[in-house]
Amino acid sequence: MEESVKILTDESEAKISSCATISDLNDIRVRVLGKNGELTALLKSMKDLPPEKRPQAGKIVNAAREKLEQAIAARQAELEQIELDKRLRDEKIDISIDMRQPASGGLHPLTIMRNRITEFFSSLGFVIADSPEIETDYYNFEALNIPADHPAREMQDTFFITENILLRSQTSAGQVRMMEKVKPPIKMLSPGRVFRADEADATHSPVFHQVEGLVVDKGITMCDLKGILDLFAQKFFGKNTKTRFRPSYFPFTEPSVEVDASCSQCGGKGCRVCKGTGWIEILGAGMVNRNVLQNCGINPDEYTGFAFGVGLDRITNIIFGINSLRTVFENDVRFLKQFN
Ligand code: PHE
Repeated sequence: MEESVKILTDESEAKISSCATISDLNDIRVRVLGKNGELTALLKSMKDLPPEKRPQAGKIVNAAREKLEQAIAARQAELEQIELDKRLRDEKIDISIDMRQPASGGLHPLTIMRNRITEFFSSLGFVIADSPEIETDYYNFEALNIPADHPAREMQDTFFITENILLRSQTSAGQVRMMEKVKPPIKMLSPGRVFRADEADATHSPVFHQVEGLVVDKGITMCDLKGILDLFAQKFFGKNTKTRFRPSYFPFTEPSVEVDASCSQCGGKGCRVCKGTGWIEILGAGMVNRNVLQNCGINPDEYTGFAFGVGLDRITNIIFGINSLRTVFENDVRFLKQFN
């Protein structure tokens, strides 16, 4: 009896310590300690022993039972730990792995340039003003000294909605709205879309952008205009940029000028960008015509002013080295991405 218990114990212990899963361990428990298990069978066979030997045998079997129960509990704890370690390893999430970044948008090159220009003029004390894209003939032409039969109307092929209402062909309409509302001193900058019935090509588009500037006060002269535009040109084309005024004609300014900046690409020697001239045309400007001041209720003997109109699309193309207006308006993502 003692011998069989020892053999069973040793065998079982070996199986317990080598078993690899909790379910195998359970099988062993049932096979050895269960109701019909091997040790239980030995316990039952005690009834065949002579009565005086039974207590001793009972002790041996119970000791074996306790020993095996402990071995099973210990192995169970080991196996649970192993299983937990394995699960932690398998289910680990690598938070260091690179994710696909969400696509993020950026500003359109025209918006970038518009912002830079409005920031620059704000810093000089200009007020940024909006004015309507749908205008009346009066604000777009009449008040700007361009009466109905004026040949200058032909310079701007206008989209008329009715005989009197049109899509503004120039942001200059905003000058009139400002001067009607605000008494001098006035320092206004007004960026916006303008419309002309042009066929779209590399240098034309039926929709484009202007930035209008207007300063009206006592004693404003062309020197003030020159000073501001020099600062502007130096800010956007580089410190050593010079400007030159060429005589021109606009009905709402007198005198009128076309303003060139020295070419920042070649420094004035002549290159592809400036088409060999050393100069790049950047805007139209002039001293506000007396008639315009008068139309807006401002006394031209008391006040003078200057105005300028920048072609935003042109400036944007020059600054970013874009060679066609089309590219700017097509909004191909591959093009726009470069400005992110
Ligand atoms: N409005 C003019 C144009 O569209 C530009 C300009 C503005 C000229 C202000 C002089 C003064 O061509």
